[in-house]
Amino acid sequence: MSIDEFADLKLFITGPTYIRPEIRKAAALPEFGHRDRENDKRSAPIFSGLKALAGLPDDYRSFLINGSGSTCMEASIRSLVADDEVVLNVTVGAFGDLYHTISLANGKLAVKLEFEPGSAIDPDVLVEAMDKHHPSVVTITHNETSTGVTNDIVSLCKLIRDNNAMPLVDGVSIFGGADLRLAEARPAIYCTATQKSLALPAGFGIGFVGPDAMEKAERVTNKGHSSDILKQLAKAESGQCLTTPNTALLNQMAIQLDHIEHTEGVEARFARHETMRDMVHGFVNGLDGFELFAQEGYRSPTLTTVRCPKGVTAATLKNVLKERMRERGYLFDPGYGKLNTRLEEAGRAAFFRIGHMGDMTPAMLEEYLGELGEELERL
Ligand SMILES: Cc1ncc(COP(=O)(O)O)c(C=O)c1O
Repeated sequence: MSIDEFADLKLFITGPTYIRPEIRKAAALPEFGHRDRENDKRSAPIFSGLKALAGLPDDYRSFLINGSGSTCMEASIRSLVADDEVVLNVTVGAFGDLYHTISLANGKLAVKLEFEPGSAIDPDVLVEAMDKHHPSVVTITHNETSTGVTNDIVSLCKLIRDNNAMPLVDGVSIFGGADLRLAEARPAIYCTATQKSLALPAGFGIGFVGPDAMEKAERVTNKGHSSDILKQLAKAESGQCLTTPNTALLNQMAIQLDHIEHTEGVEARFARHETMRDMVHGFVNGLDGFELFAQEGYRSPTLTTVRCPKGVTAATLKNVLKERMRERGYLFDPGYGKLNTRLEEAGRAAFFRIGHMGDMTPAMLEEYLGELGEELERL
């Protein structure tokens, strides 16, 4: 097989995301021993960059877990929910549902609180559910990739704690693209991954762990081995992974986090994401018949969901628009498949998504929106 057979499409999906040339090149840097001091050269910029980008409080600790965002979420459930405790999984879409699936699959007493697609978590409804179920742990999604909704984790984590539970947050598709305000939110654990706004290949889950979670995990039994956050944190103390890591990804990650912290700058990175969100909103508002799908005030800085006029079906998005954009050199995102099916079955319009995160630039986005606009007019 020739390497030319793999298409080099510009990814405007919601992850994995575009990888810039320097980071592609970094994948070819030398392999190294993950228990050797060569590892330290990578781990120093990685952990420093993660801390800066997350705005991590000094009493929090970070780890990299082999796998992806779900692996970190699974470790959070295994390590922080005792077998006799109730975990309330609050969901505004497919990834809130994923936390529930993970909780059930690990034998936990899990209850689900579900909001309408496109809506953010309503705090009053959450309090009612907490009064009813008395959970010890509550999971929430920071940025729901399937609907483009960003929840306010600062007020929600406070509310969860005020109601005597521990907040666990999935931030897979926003970390690296916006200020997480972790020092104010102080979740017990914040789970994320490499392949979204960090603009790296998938391969690690990333966990940011607060002091109360470290203390609680000491008491929770049956945490497993690689899903035990205390074992993960113990190895991360010396900059290492608990199990053998992907050294190519560590090379890329070191170059990328050093670049973000010292060259691009964290604030500039967040500002670029806001600019790109505004560009996409302006584009959608200028389209005839298309509308922003997510609740106003809760629209994601890293991806946008666009509700289509009645004549544009999920099948058109997937079979026609996606293929026409592929011919133009782009990977278009025709919306979250299961959700579009559900919406159409209920007689509602389908939506598509535009990923605008990671190392994408406003110039790249402008070019994409121009071409997408032409194709939307052709439909
Ligand atoms: C919000 C959110 N949570 C969790 C996941 C699952 O992460 P992973 O695919 O890295 O396991 C995703 C993946 O798209 C996501 O967007």
